[in-house]
Parts: sequence; C-alpha cells; structure tokens
Amino acid sequence: MTTTAAGRILLAAVFAGVIAATGCTADPLTPPPAVVQPGTPVPSANFTIDPAGVPGLVERRLVRSGTNPLTVETLYLDGATELDQALDTLTLGTIDRFLAGRSASRYEPHLTPWGLAVDTAGTLPTDSNGLVTSTDLVIASGDILGFRVTATEAGAVVSDEVVYWNDATRTLTPAVDLVPEFERAALTAALGVDADTSLDSLTFDGDGSARIRVMSGADETPLTLPADRARAFLTDAGRAIQAAAASSSPFLPSTSASPAQPYVPCALIACVALTFDDGPSPETTPGLLDLLKEEGVRATFFVEGRWAQAYPDLVRREVAEGHSVENHTWDHPDLATLPANQVASQIESTDQAIAAAGVPAPTLIRAPYGSAGDAVAATVDKPLVFWSVDAFDWRDQQPGVFVPRLLDGLEPGGIALMHDIYPSTVEGQRLLIGTLRERGYTFVTVPQLLAGVPTQAGATYSCLGDGLAATGPACTPSPVTRTQ
Ligand code: NI
Repeated sequence: MTTTAAGRILLAAVFAGVIAATGCTADPLTPPPAVVQPGTPVPSANFTIDPAGVPGLVERRLVRSGTNPLTVETLYLDGATELDQALDTLTLGTIDRFLAGRSASRYEPHLTPWGLAVDTAGTLPTDSNGLVTSTDLVIASGDILGFRVTATEAGAVVSDEVVYWNDATRTLTPAVDLVPEFERAALTAALGVDADTSLDSLTFDGDGSARIRVMSGADETPLTLPADRARAFLTDAGRAIQAAAASSSPFLPSTSASPAQPYVPCALIACVALTFDDGPSPETTPGLLDLLKEEGVRATFFVEGRWAQAYPDLVRREVAEGHSVENHTWDHPDLATLPANQVASQIESTDQAIAAAGVPAPTLIRAPYGSAGDAVAATVDKPLVFWSVDAFDWRDQQPGVFVPRLLDGLEPGGIALMHDIYPSTVEGQRLLIGTLRERGYTFVTVPQLLAGVPTQAGATYSCLGDGLAATGPACTPSPVTRTQ
C-alpha cells in the first residue's frame, strides 16, 4: 500500500467518558419472557416499561464529566440499525442544543489524556449540573416499540420526543406524524392547549387514551384524551400504535435477536477500526485471530480472492469470530490501470470466492495501493473503503516502528491499515490494542463504524467524522446523519 502517513495532533479533551453495558442480549434459545403488560390503564405520565424484559433490547450508559457534563442512557434493539441510529440522532440533537447553549463546540467522541474507564457496575454518578438524556420504553407490544427520549438540565425537562418503531415493517415514526397535519390543531384544542403545542411527546396509555406532556421547568402538566376521541385524530399507523398500547401482547422481535456484529454508537463513543489486508495467510492469520479473540477485538479483513479460495477455513473462522471479511480484489492489481471489464471481474471473482466459503458476501471494497479513480468508482458495485492512518507495516516490519505511527495518527472514528501477512504485524497487535484500549477506544469493524453513514457504491470512505480534526490527506470524513 502506498499513501502518505500524516502526523497529527491528538486533541486532548477535558472530559472523562464512560460507556457501560447495563443490559444484556436475550439468549435466542430462550423463549422471550411475556413480562410486558401494557393492558392495564396507567395513571402515571411517567409510565415506562422495563426494557430488561424485552427481547433484543440492550441498555447502555455514557457518562462524561468535566465542564459540560453529560449523562446519556440509551436503548438499542439488536439487528435494528435504523432504529438504533435514529435514537442516537435524537440524543445527539439534545446534546448539540445543550452544548450550543453553553457556547461549547459541537459534540464529538473525544478521548482524554488519561483514557476512559469502563463502568461495568454502572456506579458512576450522574452530574446534575449538566445534561441528562434518557431513553425510556413507552410501548412494547406486538410489532411496536415506543421510545421516549427526554433531556433534562438542572432537573428541568428541556426536550421530550417520542418515536415509534414497527419491527415488522422496519419503519420509524416520530410521534407527531401519528396525527395528520390538518388534524394537529384540532387535537391540541381537544386536549385543551394552544394550537402550536408540540405533539412530539404523544403517547398512549394502557387503555388507549392519548397523552401529551406539557412542561414548565420541572413541572409537568399531563393532558389526556379518551381513546375513542383520540382515535378520530390519528393516521392509520397512529391507530395501529394506539391499539398496540392497549393490547396485552408482548413485543416479539421480527429480526434475529443476536446479530453477528451488534450496533456500536460510534457517534457517541470513540471507535477505531483495525483493518488487515492481503490475506488470509495460513502462516500468520491464525495467530492474529487467536490474539484478537483473546483481546475481544473485532477487525476487518480485506482479503484477496485467490487466498480466500485457497484458504476458505480461514475466511470462515474470521466471520465466525465476529470479524468482517471484505473485498480486496482477486490478485491485487492496480485497478486504475485496468479496463472496466477486468475491474468488474476482479471484484466479482473475489465476491464469489468469499461466498463459496459459506460466509456473507462482502459489502465493501478496498482498492489495492489505494488506487481507484473515477473510472473504477463508476464500475464497482460497493463503497470503497480506504484508511485514515497507514501503518506502513509492510515496509517497517518492526512493531516498535509501525505501532507508534498508528498510535500517533489514530483519532476517534479512524481506520488503521495493516496487513495480516507479516509476523511482525501480528506481533505488534498486543501493544497496539492494549494502548488504544487504555486511551478509551472501542474496537469495531468497518461496517459497524459506518453503520450510521448512508454509503454509496463507488464513493470513498476513510474514517467516521463530522468536523473531527483533519485525519490526514487520505481521509474523507463520513458524517453521521444528524437532524440539525
Ligand atoms: Ni493490499
């Protein structure tokens, strides 16, 4: 691989951040527990459902202390990336508004000079001087999940948004869209509030009555409308959600409860993707896989088709152990020098060799030597993934040289380019992984890193970022979708 290594300054943030998994993924072999009982009328406006009883839902907690402290409590549904990303977008919106209100720069997942601790016990305190966002479950019935994202500052609610997820149709609907635009003023009138009152907090009680929350500081005025009257104002989707709220059926996820690569909120926490090209090699790849397994690290392998065909067991093992296997062409030509039909055949034959190993077909391409160009971009059927930092591990086959190069260059959202065909590259991983982990990084595959980015075939992606400090000449930051 040839590219210019970029020396960069790692900006030291003044915050400490922690993410802790406080829930767990449901065992797919265990029947889902029928613990959700939304059939009972619920008097409290703060009615929420315990997510621990809902199959596939995972709770996470992020705490950042310092000048503008943040506490973020989120929920994710395994296998529902669109939903998980939408919940992150809502959370990021509240954080961005909070930071803008304090004239602070926009949120980015920073590292601290001393790294991040992982709060597995969930004991880190919430700092009430800052922003606290929480995601609560308000409906879990049939195909429907309802989520309320509430943000509070100094105990006062500053935003309150509800979204509904239909797991069968995989559609997400903001609460306000359950009411057609021409009915909104009539509904607020029926609730007894001003026509311009927000319907963002619209939920349904266990008897189907509609409820919105009107906040004044920490004081809440709950407003409800009986089910039959509310029904007249709703869209078809709104009526289905109202019916789900009043039903006693448990939520049953349509999607596989345990995807091979779970969602990681890389817009909120510091992620890094380790990538290994040019394998698999029976000499060096097994040792690397052993080490990654021991360290609990997921990586991305850009394999050559000829080696995937020769060593399908290694390709299968890579996927079985949670890594991504992607396309690095059949035999490593400079694609920019080939006619379109040969470019296409380099990609297709490699896809076929990977699929023949019995694993999912690749979704990403890395062009050898980082050499693509417009003609290649127009020919390929997948996004092109490059890197933000090149280890030059093929040239400097010494961990003492290439590991510091990566440690100097990587930033949150970065992609590290290495090669799993050199013993010295494998040898350097313990130091690289250990140091990155100490600094607070979470290791993800490239598909996990880019889960929130609307990628396009032929377009180039080199890191995840939105206003991140420049990540070198080879890096094209890929912004996370935001509402603002
Ligand atoms: Ni290569």
